[in-house]
Order: sequence, then C-alpha cells, then structure tokens
Amino acid sequence: MIRLTCTAALIALGSTALTGAGASAQERRPSADEAQMRAERTLAQMTQDEKVQLIHGTMAVVVPKPRRPRDMPMGAGVIAGVERLGIPPQYATDASLGISNIMDMRKGDVATALPSGLSLASTWNPALLRAGGRMIGSEALAKGFNVMLAGGVNLVRDPRAGRNFEYLGEDPLLGGVLVGAQIEGIQSNGIIATIKHFALNNQETGRATASVNMGEAAMRESDLLAFQIGIERGDPGSVMCSYNKVGGIYACENSFMLNDVLRRDWGFKGYVMSDWGAVHSTEALLAGLDQQSGETVDAKRWLSTELRPKLADGRIPAAALDTAVKRILWAIYAKELDKTPLGPKPIDYAKNAEVALQAAREGTVLLRNEGALLPLAKTVRSVVVIGGKANLGVPSGGGSSQVVPVGGFRVIEKLSDGAAAVFSRRAWGGSVPLAALQGALGGVQVTYLDGSDAQAAAVAAKAADVAIVFATKFSTEAEDQADLVLDGAQDALIDMVASANPRTVVVLETGNPVAMPWLGKVPVVLSAWYSGQRGADAIADIIAGTVNPSGRLPVTFPASVAQLPNPKLPGADLPPPSKEDKIRYGVNTNSPPFNITYPEGSDAGYRWFDRTGQKPLFAFGHGLSYTMFRYSRLKVKGGRTLRASFTVTNTGGREGADVPQVYVTLPGKARRLVGWDKPMLKRGESRTITVMADPRLLADFDMPSQRWVVKPGKVKVELARSATEPVLSTQATLSAQKLKP
Ligand code: BGC
Repeated sequence: MIRLTCTAALIALGSTALTGAGASAQERRPSADEAQMRAERTLAQMTQDEKVQLIHGTMAVVVPKPRRPRDMPMGAGVIAGVERLGIPPQYATDASLGISNIMDMRKGDVATALPSGLSLASTWNPALLRAGGRMIGSEALAKGFNVMLAGGVNLVRDPRAGRNFEYLGEDPLLGGVLVGAQIEGIQSNGIIATIKHFALNNQETGRATASVNMGEAAMRESDLLAFQIGIERGDPGSVMCSYNKVGGIYACENSFMLNDVLRRDWGFKGYVMSDWGAVHSTEALLAGLDQQSGETVDAKRWLSTELRPKLADGRIPAAALDTAVKRILWAIYAKELDKTPLGPKPIDYAKNAEVALQAAREGTVLLRNEGALLPLAKTVRSVVVIGGKANLGVPSGGGSSQVVPVGGFRVIEKLSDGAAAVFSRRAWGGSVPLAALQGALGGVQVTYLDGSDAQAAAVAAKAADVAIVFATKFSTEAEDQADLVLDGAQDALIDMVASANPRTVVVLETGNPVAMPWLGKVPVVLSAWYSGQRGADAIADIIAGTVNPSGRLPVTFPASVAQLPNPKLPGADLPPPSKEDKIRYGVNTNSPPFNITYPEGSDAGYRWFDRTGQKPLFAFGHGLSYTMFRYSRLKVKGGRTLRASFTVTNTGGREGADVPQVYVTLPGKARRLVGWDKPMLKRGESRTITVMADPRLLADFDMPSQRWVVKPGKVKVELARSATEPVLSTQATLSAQKLKP
C-alpha cells in the first residue's frame, strides 16, 4: 500500500523551494519512539497528583498574583510543570496570525501581525506559511510561551462565518498543505503547535450548542481530510477539540473523532487539549480528551477536582490518566520543550515585519483589472483615497486571534452588543495606506477623505485622475455575519464615487468574501483581506506596480447568498439562548441548541458551485497578474495515482508568479483540486512543472470497507487558472486501489 505521507509530500514536485525548507529542523528532533520511551520512563516516576497536574490548566489571568511563577507570561493558558522531573510548564498563547494580547493582558505588549488566514492562504505558497510560522513561533518563545494555539484549519463552508478570516480557505488539500507548513515552521522553534478546532466548527452561531450532523464519508473527504493532511505534514504536538457537537456528541468527548479517527486511523501520537470552555464531563478523558484547558471557563474542573474522587474509587481507571499524561509527555519530548529555555528574549521586529510584508504582497488578490488601470500609469497626477480609515491603518479581525501590531492600534472601537462584545473589538493599526500610497506614488498628489460624506467623496473623485476606495467589513470570533454586505453605507459610497469617476479602484479589507453590487461600474478590485503589519505597503506596492500581484482566492466569492448550500445561515433565525441554555452549554453559548446539516456534503465551496452549475462572482483559484501566462504540453500518467506535467510560459511584459492549478473530475462528481505550483517566471521564461495527486483526492471514502477506494477507469484532468477556468484538458486512466483511512 502506498504510504500516504510520502505521496502527500510530493504534491508540488516542481517547487522544491516550497516543500523542502524546514525539514532539517524536524530531522534533528528525537524520533517518535525515543519520545515515547522517555514519556514512559517519566510517567513511571510520577505521583498521581503530578499526573493530574499535567492534564488540566487555567488562564494566566486567573492565577492569583502571589502564585504566579516568575517566568509565567500572561497568555491564554497555563499548565504547571513538575520541576523535580524536569517537566517544563506549558505556557500557551494564541494564535495563527501572531502573538495575540487579548484585553491587554500583557500591558502594552505588541507583536508582528501576519495578514489574516485567508490572506496567507491566498499566497498558495507553503514556504511563506512555513516562514510565517517560524517567525510567530520565535516571537511566542521570546515572550516566554512554549505552546502556540496556532494551526486553524476549519474549512470555509459559509462566507458569513465569523472566524473564516483565521482559517485557510475552503479546500482540504490547500488548507491541509498550508497548515502543515505553518505548524512545521512554528515547531522549528522547539515549541508545540496546535491544529484546531477539531472539528466541523465551521460557524460561530451555535458554536457551543449546535450539532453538526454529517455522514462519515463526507466529513472524511472534506473537513477531516484538511486536518489529516495538516497532521501528516506538520506533525503538531497537539490538537484542540472544538466547542460544537459532531453527530450529537461534543467534539471534546467524541470517541469516534478522537479515538477512532485521530488516533486509530491517523496514528496521531500527541495530545488533545480542549478549547476554552468545551469540556462537559470527566468521562471526556475516556473518549480521548487529554487536557482540560482554561478550566475556569467550564462549568466544573472536570479533569482535576471532579476527577480525583473518580480515580480513587475506580470509576475512572488510573490507566486512562496514564494514557493522557503519556501523550502530553510525548509531545513535550518529541518537540523538545524540555530543552527549550523559556524567558524573555529580544525580538527583531523590523526583520519579522519583512515576513509579514512578503505574505501580504503574495496574499493580496487582484480580482479585476479592466482596461489595465493597474498598475497606475506614470501619467496619473492626482489620486484621492477614500474611506476605510486608510489614514490610520489597516483593520484586523476580532477575538482571541487578534494581534496588537507593532506600533499599537491607532483606532479601537468597542462592540456595543452581541456575543463577541466581551472580548472582541474592531481595531486598525499596522502600516498606513494613505502614507504608503504617498510614498509609493512619488510625484502624484494623494489626498484623503474619510468617506462619511458620499457627495463630497464623489466631487473629490471627479476632480482626481483616480479614486481609490478602501472598503471594510468586520469579522470576529463568536459572531457570524448577517449577510455579504460591506459594513455601513459603503456600497452606496462606492457607487457614487465610481459614477463620478470611472477610474475607481476598490480595495477590499474584509474577513470574508463580500457581494459587489457596484462591480459593473468599478474597473479594479483588489482583495487585501486583513493585511497585517505591513499590509498597506503591500497594497501600495501593487497599485504602484513595484510588486506584481500573485494571490489567488482560497474561497469562492458567491454572487449572492442564494447560491449557497444553506442560503440562510444555520441557526441565524433562532431566538437568543435561554438562561437554562447558558447554564447547560456554558459561557460560549450564543444560541439555543440546533442541528446543522450541510447539503453540499464533502463538496464545500467551488465543488458545490461546480456540482450545481452556478456561476460565482469570483471563483476559487482566481487572481490576476500584470503579466500573462500560457499553458502547454499537458501530459498525464494514471495508474495507482496521477501525475500531471505541463509547461507554463510567461508571455507578458514583466516578471511574475503564476499559480497553475490541476483539477480532476471523477465520473459524476465535482471538480477537485489535486495539485498546484507557484513558479516565478521572468519575461519569456518557461518552466515544466510536475504535480502528483494525493490518491485520496481520486478516491471516495467507502463506508463498508472503511477504506479510500479509487475506482478503475477514466477521469478528466484539467490544467486551470481557477476552479472555473480550465485551459487544457485531458484524460487519465486510474487503476483500482484501496487505501487505509
Ligand atoms: C478560541 C480558541 C483559543 C482559545 C484560547 C477560544 O475562545 O476558540 O481558538 O485558542 O479561546 O484563547
């Protein structure tokens, strides 16, 4: 049988630079068996109290000041160590976009803010995710943390979901490969990364109360596959189980998910920590949970106070405690936490900002460029920048992942109500679009209007050569969005500006896809997402043309919510939760309990659009460049897997990076992405690229045999610019094959 881990590592054979880096750091680490042996030896020396100490933790803010160890940083989680055995404490911080500082726990502390997850995913560049991971991991360590709650890879199933901005898009292969690289980068610092939230926590409405009811095959082919690939490639020390229920059972006490899928089938050796407030019983320990995090957020201290009497009278066997402790120790030894010195270290923020800049440059997607308005011509003399607080910074998403950028926030708006109001805020910081544009467009007069007066904005737009509107929409943890509409009256503003000046550029600064009712009037749309520490510089570089855009969408932009599998967001029309609901389901309760079904099954995102023959506003994989690429000589080889090779030629006027994508269509199914590459090509340069498909993407998960089954026969193979723009097409013949789950 083919070793899936090996095959998966070969997705983009052409880009050794993208897949190779970081391996050496992993190779120097102890082997899984060595870590296991050490874990067993240490366990044998531990008292029961010491064991219990390792499987529950709290938040730094609730540790009373006199009891705070000197080296303890204020962060999301604290697990005490066992000094006499050299077991280090575990100090955890959020999250995937940098080191967050929720509610200013570390007074005035800042960190390098990466662009949002959707921006990172728009790079389609695992090497950048790895570099970003390495950078944020180094900042975590320098601030005294050795566990990062980073590696969010829930699939985007609904473009209204509040946390999509933290994640890596709608495709299991793209998300899995990218999160694996990010985890590898983080852990190269000798710390633990946490892939999360396992699993099917795809929306915030009902995050603590909803049950996602989905067939096993469909989950394994979609959301679970993203985790599986991420775990194979990144080897995280930890998995965070999610708040929601899966098939009626809480994800953190779901033996099918934790014991059967994660451990038996995937061979995961690390530990499962709970999300903060996601534990509901001591018996969760038997179902595969190893650590109760942030226990004060839960109704009870299930894995300490409640556990001890049950251990004493045998209701919970001592072996269950040992198993959990061994897994935690395994991760500590495998990732060498015991050898990684903790304590504050200086951080080179200027150097780290370069990583954020590169990510933002590659993560900004040029969606539309009619008449080649961008890059701005040398003849442009005046530009008016409108709205989006573009004179103050770039926006960020809210919640536990929000990073206070170096330089601090320049605007903070508290939320007045809603589930997120307690810990989330709208904030702008990082580099400043107005200043960045003034710098990048030397000699051009660049002025600013805040956009609050649409009439005045239209007058100014008419008088200028070009108008650039910065359009925002806030996304946050704990809340979903009602629709795809930009915040406030921005659609009307854009409409008026574009009516006054047909040379209008819209820069979207959003956490999600949005609708664009004004699109017919606006020649240029640039999706910058939440662009992080140096986002404004990246936007200005692209507008000025010093950087050639290479971002590609990791999510579909629907034309309207009517196109979605669930036109109404599940649970959105329910009344607020009752007092009883809140007691029963805990602090994260934002709705009464309900069931979520996904009519699209494993066909999330572009696959749904393909299956239903609907035309999106902008397709998954779409993104324009200032140069042009020709595809030729597509050759495929079938058999037990699929190998596609082809040539990409830069036929345009300047150097640029392209993202050729290979899709396979199995008979009667929707298109699936099976590989891509990101070659940087000089003018006129050609490159031959080989992409190897992970056989799981050529298979269906067969329930009776519990295997991935590849059916023999012909499949369509397309080389494409996006999920709706195939350029070359051919067929391959696959041979029958069964693969382990
Ligand atoms: C979030 C997690 C986060 C944790 C700790 C929870 O609210 O869902 O993603 O890691 O808080 O801050």
